[in-house]
Amino acid sequence: MIASASKIAVGLIALAGLVEAQSVPRFVYGTPNPNAPGVKSRNKNGATNPKSAQLNTPINQTSVSRLASINSIDDWCTFGPEPVPNTQQMGDIEQTTVAYCTKARNNARVIPDGTLTAVHFVKTPLYVQVMALGDFTKINMAPGDLGGELDPHGATNMGNPVGGNVTSNVADGKTDVFYQEWMNYISSSQVCFRVCIAGTDIAPTPLECQHQLDTMGCNWVMPGNYADNSFDTCDGDAAYPPGLYPQPDGSTSTFQQFFTGTYVGAGGSVISYTNGSPTQTTPQSAYSLPSTSNCVTTSSISNGIKAIMPTTTMSTAVSSSTSSSSGSSNNNSSGGSSSSSSFNSGASRATVAASFVAAIGLFSAALMF
Ligand SMILES: *[C@@H]1O[C@H](CO)[C@@H](O)[C@H](O)[C@H]1NC(C)=O
Ligand SMILES: *[C@@H]1O[C@H](CO)[C@@H](O)[C@H](O)[C@H]1NC(C)=O
Ligand SMILES: *[C@@H]1O[C@H](CO)[C@@H](O)[C@H](O)[C@H]1NC(C)=O
Ligand SMILES: *[C@@H]1O[C@H](CO)[C@@H](O)[C@H](O)[C@H]1NC(C)=O
Repeated sequence: MIASASKIAVGLIALAGLVEAQSVPRFVYGTPNPNAPGVKSRNKNGATNPKSAQLNTPINQTSVSRLASINSIDDWCTFGPEPVPNTQQMGDIEQTTVAYCTKARNNARVIPDGTLTAVHFVKTPLYVQVMALGDFTKINMAPGDLGGELDPHGATNMGNPVGGNVTSNVADGKTDVFYQEWMNYISSSQVCFRVCIAGTDIAPTPLECQHQLDTMGCNWVMPGNYADNSFDTCDGDAAYPPGLYPQPDGSTSTFQQFFTGTYVGAGGSVISYTNGSPTQTTPQSAYSLPSTSNCVTTSSISNGIKAIMPTTTMSTAVSSSTSSSSGSSNNNSSGGSSSSSSFNSGASRATVAASFVAAIGLFSAALMF
C-alpha cells in the first residue's frame, strides 16, 4: 500500500518464485477462530459500495464500486484501475482502484472473458486465496505494469482503495461475511488476493494478511500454485505468515521491507520514519509452500458476457491477434504474461537480488503505511 514502492511489486517477485520454497514442517497455528478479534467486520461499508454483496447486478464498466467478493474459482474480484483507458502505473493509483469481478456482482465492473489464463483457488483454515494469471490490460492495467498492492490500510488508513471492502461466503458456502484483513496484488499479468477468515493467537489476521510487503509480490507473500494454463480449486494448509522465517534454534526471524519516508503529523510537524533495515538480507522466497489437497480441476472459467469484450482500446501491445511489439512469441490470450516472462526467462538469482536492491533504493518518498 505504499504508493511509490508498489510500482515494482509483482514482477520482481515472480522471480523469487523461481526459487523453490523449502520443505519445512507445516505451520502449527492453533485452533482457527472465525470470531476472533480482527476477523469479521461490522463497520460501515465504503461510500461507493452497495450495502451488501450481491450477484446479478447491472453491468457498468465505468462503475466505481469498491466491494470485492472472494467466493470460488469462478466468483471472485480484484481491485484494478479506475480510469478507462488508463496509462498510469498501479502504484500511483491504488487509492482510487475499483472492483472487477468474474461475474456481474456488487455493482462492480466485470472481468471480460479472455482475460484469464489460469486461476487457482485455495481455501485454508485461516484464509481463502485466489492466484490468477492473464492479460490484465483487459481490465485497464497499463501494459508492462509490475503492479501494486491493495489492502484495508493505506497511507490514510482509509483503505487502498479508500472504502474498499471485501466479503467471502466460504465459511458456510452461502453467507456473505465482511472481513477486516485482506491483501490484493495486481500487475499486468498476475493477480493474487488473500482474505483472512479466521484467526488464532499465533496467527492473528494482521499477521497472516500482512500489508507492509508491497514490493515482494504474489509468489513471495502468498505462496501457492501460480502455474499458467490451469484452473483448480483446492483445500490447503495455511502458509507461515509472510515475512516470518523460523530458525533452527527455535527463534523466528522477521523480514521487514526496508523503506524510509516522512509524513505530516497532527501538529503540522514533519515526522520521519524508517521501516526495516537496509542491511537485512532479503529472503529469496516464501519460507514454505503450503501443501494442498482435494484439488478439483476445471477447464476454464467464463461469464459469456459478449458486450464487455474489449475492442481495440487498451490491449494492443499484448492483444491476442495483433501483437508484434511485446516481443513474445506466443500471441495467444496468455500474452499478458509477456511482461513478466522477460523477467523470468534467464534471470539468475544474482539478477534477482540485484534488482531488489535497486528497487528498495527508490523508496525515499514512500508514504506512511
Ligand atoms: C456507471 O457508473 C458510473 C460511476 O458510478 C456512473 O456515473 C454511471 O452513471 C453508471 N452508469 C450506469 C448506466 O448506471
Ligand atoms: C470498509 O473499508 C474501510 C476502509 O478500510 C473500513 O474502515 C471499514 O471497516 C470497512 N467496512 C467493512 C464493512 O468491512
Ligand atoms: C498468431 O496470430 C496470427 C494472426 O491471427 C496467426 O496467423 C498466427 O498463426 C498466430 N501465431 C501463433 C504462434 O499462434
Ligand atoms: C494457444 O492456447 C491454446 C489453449 O491453451 C493451446 O492449445 C495452443 O497450443 C496455444 N497456442 C500457442 C501458439 O501458444
